[in-house]
Parts: sequence; structure tokens; C-alpha cells
Amino acid sequence: MKDIKILAVESSCDETAVAVVENGNKILSSVVATQIDVHKDFGGVIPEVASRIHVENISMVIEEALKKAELDMPDIDAVAFTQGPGLVGCLHIGVQAAKTLAWAFDKPLVPVHHIAGHIYANRFLTDLAFPLLALVVSGGHTELVYMKDEWSFQILGTTQDDAIGEAGDKVGRVLGLPYPGGVYVDKLAKEGKPIYTLSKPKTEQALDFSFSGLKSSVLQFIDRQKRQGLEFNAADLAASYQETALDALLLRARKALTQYQPKQMLLAGGVAANSRLREKIQEELAIEYPTIDFVIPPLSYCTDNAAMIGAAGYVAYKHGVRASYDCSADPGLEL
Ligand code: KG4
Ligand code: ZN
Repeated sequence: MKDIKILAVESSCDETAVAVVENGNKILSSVVATQIDVHKDFGGVIPEVASRIHVENISMVIEEALKKAELDMPDIDAVAFTQGPGLVGCLHIGVQAAKTLAWAFDKPLVPVHHIAGHIYANRFLTDLAFPLLALVVSGGHTELVYMKDEWSFQILGTTQDDAIGEAGDKVGRVLGLPYPGGVYVDKLAKEGKPIYTLSKPKTEQALDFSFSGLKSSVLQFIDRQKRQGLEFNAADLAASYQETALDALLLRARKALTQYQPKQMLLAGGVAANSRLREKIQEELAIEYPTIDFVIPPLSYCTDNAAMIGAAGYVAYKHGVRASYDCSADPGLEL
């Protein structure tokens, strides 16, 4: 069978990324132009600024991805792009770039859901075994997704308020850490112990998540200590927050594993880079559920990149999923 080479574009948030992926699991090139240094100055992503930087970077990133893959557009079989969800102004830049390439070189245009991309980042490590359960943890999502086959996505549980990545970023900010806070909370937590008691997330639905109460509990703890003129140890607070958040996450994952008995469990999304979460999956879940294959994506493919869009785009391409030239970005796209 002929090898299928997909050029993929991702611009849903603050990374301008383009990759060339062969047969959904071989990365020929993956270029990510991050805007983190710009957004650091503001303590978060300013959508308007992010869109403008995407416009400035996208052509260079496309050119570099093709050059690194040692290919030209005529060698490409299809163009995949993130249609949503994400920041609408940011998505539009990637959508327009992908449409232009597909039109100019007469290539099929394949729309991809950002979360399908995060899930398929695991294809760079192993074949997927169905049915599987994906624990999706990113800046915008916290979801348990059940897949009975390679192109069906059933959301078993989702967050009722903040996503886990968003909560971690806010906790980082109140602790005075740089953006993105979650990354620095992870680092700081290594130097502390989870000695403080914070409010445990509660939800009505057994498989749903909630992180805003826990985030507020960190803010209230800091306020209380300050009002009473008491010191606290920031590393211990970071460890206490992280342990409480991850325990709530794994509690729901355990329920889903017991109920749905998948062959495989995948970790997906930016927070999959969290060192303590990776540790807890290996040290706790993998031992409690010895018949389930636990897969954690390579660190560089946890946070936003276009290779994952190429991996998911390949499956969508095989299933005949196509977008027309009048398609648009969809910031609320459903999986
Ligand atoms: O998937 P992603 O790159 O973008 C979205 O689709 O949202 O995820 C970004 C999120 C941010 O909230 C960031 O703080 C978090 O992933 N993140 C981490 C770590 N690395 C990235 N959170 C905790 N620990 C980490 N090591
Ligand atoms: Zn993402």
C-alpha cells in the first residue's frame, strides 16, 4: 500500500505548529513555534496577541516543516488542520493556511478535533488497542473518553468548571510562579510535601470533574495565612494542591477502568507532561490494573504540536472525513 504523507497545521492556542507525518505514526518533521515568552509577560495568553503572532509565523513554520521532511507540497497526500476547539482568532489562521495549501496544490482537506489529536499523540509510541480509555488533561479539557474503535469517541466524564491545566496555571499565578503555572507548580511540588488539607473536588456525576473549588481553597488558604500573619511553605502548598488534584483525577479514572474494562488506557494533553501524574499512573494504576496496558505519550508530544494532528488526521483521512473550502474554525467543536 502507498505511504500516506499528511501535512498538519495546529494553531488553536499559543503554539504555531506544522508537521509532516507518514501513515499516522512516523514523524517526518514537527516544527513548533511557541509564543510562551511573549505571553509570560502578560501572565497568560492574550488571544489578540496570539492570533497576530500566528499570522507572522505560519508561513515560515510551513516552509521549515517541508524542508525538514525533505519534501515539497506535490509529495503531500492531504492537508490536515485543527478545526477546533480553541481560541477562534487563533484557529482561523491555521484553517486559512490549510485551505490555501489544499486549494493551491489540489489536495484533500481533513478537519481534525484538537482532542482527537492529543489522544492520537500516543500513536508515536505504540499501536492503539480497542476498546480504550483516554484520560484527556489539558489547559481547556479534562475528560474521560471511551473509544470502542479508532474513530468513535464517547465522553464518559468532563469538567463541570475549570480544566485541570487551567486550575494549575491559576494556582501557579497566586504562588507567584511564571506562566504557564502548571509547569512550575510541578517543579516546585517536587521540593515539598502534601501536608496541607485542601477541599477535595466533589461532583454529582461519578465520572465528572471539578477543579474550581480546589483552586479557591488554595486562594483562601493563602489569604487566611496572610491575615493571621502566619508563614506557609510554597513548595508544600504546591505539593498539597497537586496531590489533591491528581487524586481526584485518578479516583474518576479508576471508576471508569473498573466499569468499562478497556484494553488500554492512554494519557493525553498538556498536563500529561506532569511528572507526578506520570509517576502515579505507573506506581498506582498500572499495579492495580495489571491486565490493562497504560500508555503515556512522549513528553514533547504531550503539549500542543502538529504531529498529533497529523496522526489523528491520518485516521480521519482513511475514514473519508473531508472539509470543503467554505469550512470555518469552530471554537466549540464537539468530539
Ligand atoms: O494541551 P496543551 O498544550 O494546550 C491545550 O490544549 O490546552 O496544555 C496546556 C496545559 C497548560 O495548562 C499547562 O500549564 C499544562 O498543560 N502543563 C502542565 C505541565 N506541562 C504543561 N501542567 C502540569 N504539569 C506539567 N508538567
Ligand atoms: Zn492542547
